[in-house]
Amino acid sequence: MQINVKILRFDPDKDKKQHWETYAVECQPSDRVLDVLNHIKWYIDPTLGFRRSCAHGICGSDAMLINGRNRLACKTLIRNVVTGNAGTITVEPIRGLKVEKDMVVDMEPFFDAYRSIMPYFIADGAPPAAEYLQSEHDAERMAHSSNCILCACCTTSCPIFWVNGSYIGPAAIVQAHRFIFDTRDGATQQRLNLMNQNTGVWRCRTAYNCTEACPRDIPITELIEEVKRAVMYQQA
Ligand code: SF4
Ligand code: F3S
Ligand code: FES
Repeated sequence: MQINVKILRFDPDKDKKQHWETYAVECQPSDRVLDVLNHIKWYIDPTLGFRRSCAHGICGSDAMLINGRNRLACKTLIRNVVTGNAGTITVEPIRGLKVEKDMVVDMEPFFDAYRSIMPYFIADGAPPAAEYLQSEHDAERMAHSSNCILCACCTTSCPIFWVNGSYIGPAAIVQAHRFIFDTRDGATQQRLNLMNQNTGVWRCRTAYNCTEACPRDIPITELIEEVKRAVMYQQA
């Protein structure tokens, strides 16, 4: 089949603003959008900029807007975004972060928010003789949040994040959830205090865009509500 791939391009060295460019590409319905972008870069226009690494939905580097929705290019099949021969797909950079080139955005504000929630285990007292053990039941409480791959699909689909960049965003809250509900972690109170700041959970207005955008099917809004309750009652 042949499809048209309409891409929002921006080269800071020569463009004053973003503009659309369209490429006709031969592909299979079973190809992924990443395969099509690779084809354009390797055989049609080597100046096209986008990030990718694992190509298997693990590294989280190829989040982009495909047909107006945040998705990972390596997990999106052509047959799910194009209907029929000569159909068109649109590809744009994720929103709310500065575009550096084409689909490449400045991820630093996103990772600043991630770093701000102390995304590491903080021991409570002396370490045990062997590993830190946890029951299956306790591990379940953080099962969803520990699935996050930090792709930014959620945060960059959140209308609150678009208008207020100081909101740490759903991805950082999911990461905080992972440690707040880890029974082995000793900094729960510190973490709840961080979530209670005016950049934290109370900024969320349950818009649900984040949950719809997550390629790992993490029930993000539910997790944010759990963190809100933990902050309100000061216990996880
Ligand atoms: Fe990506 Fe989902 Fe993690 Fe958000 S919660 S960063 S959408 S994997
Ligand atoms: Fe934003 Fe998700 Fe809350 S989209 S407003 S973080 S439910
Ligand atoms: Fe790693 Fe898509 S390239 S998640």
